[in-house]
Amino acid sequence: MVSQAPPASASETAPQRPIHSVGEFRFPPGLRRNLPAYLFTRFFRPGNPILLFEHLVQTYGPVSHYKLGASHIVFVNDPELIREILVTQAPAFIKERTQQRMKILLGEGLITSEGDFHMRQRRIAAPAFHRQRIQGYAEMMVERAAAMRDRWDPGENFDMAAAMMELTLAIVARTLFATDVTQEIRQINDEVNVIMRLYNYLVALPRAESYLHLPVPGLIRFRKARARLDSIVYRMIAERRAVNVDRGDLLSMLLASRDEEGSAEQSSMSDRQLRDEVITIFLAGYETVANALTWTWYLLSQNPAAAERMEQEIDALLGKGESARLPALQDIPQLRYTEMVFAESMRLYPPAWAMGRQSTQAIELGPYRLPAGTYFFFSQYILHRSEEYYPDPLRFDPERFTPEQKAARPRFAYFPFGGGSRQCIGEAFAWMEGVLILATLSQRWRFRMVPGQTVDVQPKITLRPKYPMRMLPERR
Ligand code: HEM
Repeated sequence: MVSQAPPASASETAPQRPIHSVGEFRFPPGLRRNLPAYLFTRFFRPGNPILLFEHLVQTYGPVSHYKLGASHIVFVNDPELIREILVTQAPAFIKERTQQRMKILLGEGLITSEGDFHMRQRRIAAPAFHRQRIQGYAEMMVERAAAMRDRWDPGENFDMAAAMMELTLAIVARTLFATDVTQEIRQINDEVNVIMRLYNYLVALPRAESYLHLPVPGLIRFRKARARLDSIVYRMIAERRAVNVDRGDLLSMLLASRDEEGSAEQSSMSDRQLRDEVITIFLAGYETVANALTWTWYLLSQNPAAAERMEQEIDALLGKGESARLPALQDIPQLRYTEMVFAESMRLYPPAWAMGRQSTQAIELGPYRLPAGTYFFFSQYILHRSEEYYPDPLRFDPERFTPEQKAARPRFAYFPFGGGSRQCIGEAFAWMEGVLILATLSQRWRFRMVPGQTVDVQPKITLRPKYPMRMLPERR
């Protein structure tokens, strides 16, 4: 079972701690000295910073402060203040260091770039993610999911996390690079697997860029895999430029995109920029969705009433048994409960489980004033489990996502896709993919957990299950 205890509502339980003033600055309550070693050993157990954040919320309330070396760190667990950071005062922030470090793989892609350059890239890439454009991918998503559901045998268990990775990886590869690149997709898959094994650790280390060149076996493997991935991506870009045909995929869109507001000679992307964007979209676009789906199947296996209700919705719309048809794009608005299930799953297990920013100038945040260079962290995982916005927060209840209930909560009480100008560009893509895959697989199967397994979270770049999640498919 999931081991994290629910964080109690901060405002109810946290003792009132005084604001701590130093010169012109007013710091939130928190650890007065540098994050002491004992806290590190207690809460920074490899791979689980969530414990530290929970401790801060429970002890100090919705905004807390500590120092790590010379850096001020503020943990924010309040929807209005998160809005301040992501929307209202967004120009005063850049991404925090871990995300900056992702440049070792992603270069200057949408996730890692900043300022005017980011805004320009976002403008150029936006049409590739417009609702009308991504609608063309629905059929292919369903086709892939249908092929996967045909492979399972009743009673033969498999690792759901691995299956969902395979499915979403194939989908993002096909939507980025059209259809006829099966061989490349396999190669890309292999290189990405090598890279990801190390990448999760590298981005957590300070100054990763500076020792990336060292002749250490793991780093050599990383560099070689990255170089091979680059060469595949560059070759695809060159081939596509040569034929100059719109294949309807994301790469064609990115190649054709023009920055209407830019100067004529600078309005399209260079090969290097294309490489960075392609690899960014590729990596951002599959592990997140795979984790969301894996957790959804897990939650459904623990909540049979919700699974049944979802299946009834799907059967009523698409038919049952021999006469059933596959879901399609136009069915999505009718798959409302299925979408609510997916939403509730991303509340409890948000694939992007925490986010961070660094201020580039002194910041007023609520009653606090914080110096330039302060790091601000906030966690979907923790806020989404707040009693204040989600009574009985550990209970899986898709009804929390009826339009009425959604409207009754502050916007940033739920933010699996972030917010503001850097909100996930793939959000509509992810909702469409999630709902269509849930519907396609549920038409045929219901999944039961193989008994005796431990389930826990592993907060890496995304919120993965810590152990394989072995499931038994049962034919419906
Ligand atoms: C359930 C699935 C997904 C989740 C939970 C998710 C979550 C997020 C979050 C929280 C951010 C904002 C990060 C920040 O501001 O620090 C983000 C940004 C981004 N996501 Fe997603 N994402 C998902 C799926 C996708 C997909 C399918 C794609 C592409 C096909 C994608 C591409 C991107 C890109 C390119 C950015 C950077 C946007 C920018 O800064 O302009 N994501 N995502």
